[in-house]
Amino acid sequence: MKPVSKETLKGYCKTLKLAHVPRAYLEISYTDREQYLTDLFYAEIAARQAKKVKNLIKKAGFPAFKTLEDFQWQPVILPQTTTTAGLANLDFIDRHENVLALGAVGTGQTHLAIALGIRACMEG
Ligand SMILES: Nc1ncnc2c1ncn2[C@@H]1O[C@H](COP(=O)(O)OP(=O)(O)OP(=O)(O)O)[C@@H](O)[C@H]1O
Ligand SMILES: [Mg+2]
Repeated sequence: MKPVSKETLKGYCKTLKLAHVPRAYLEISYTDREQYLTDLFYAEIAARQAKKVKNLIKKAGFPAFKTLEDFQWQPVILPQTTTTAGLANLDFIDRHENVLALGAVGTGQTHLAIALGIRACMEG
């Protein structure tokens, strides 16, 4: 095996695929070595997750960006087997179930479908 060549921090980060570290390392406050590295690795992992979520949402090709936070549940009548929390925590995906939304034009069916899709992307 070749000896490891001397590199810059940026170079090592590239080799190790630590894309966020060169940007994050100066912004993280230092108390001790373990805390500093822990916070730095946290920043790298958080940035990767955010990028993954962004890519999943892009790949899904939703026709609009809608969230569960913006959804008004008051007019919605749910079947007894479902709750708003049960939908929001995406249990139906683990159970391999479909969600059917029925209603008049403009009553939020597409909004809810997109919002559940966005939530699923956010959950990875
Ligand atoms: N319950 C709701 N909470 C929040 N926004 C809503 C709600 N219902 C409708 N809207 C908003 O009104 C607009 C129309 O809603 P949406 O496109 O979801 O209707 P739809 O039920 O899919 O209608 P269609 O039957 O025409 O497909 C959207 O901008 C949506 O965000
Ligand atoms: Mg619709």
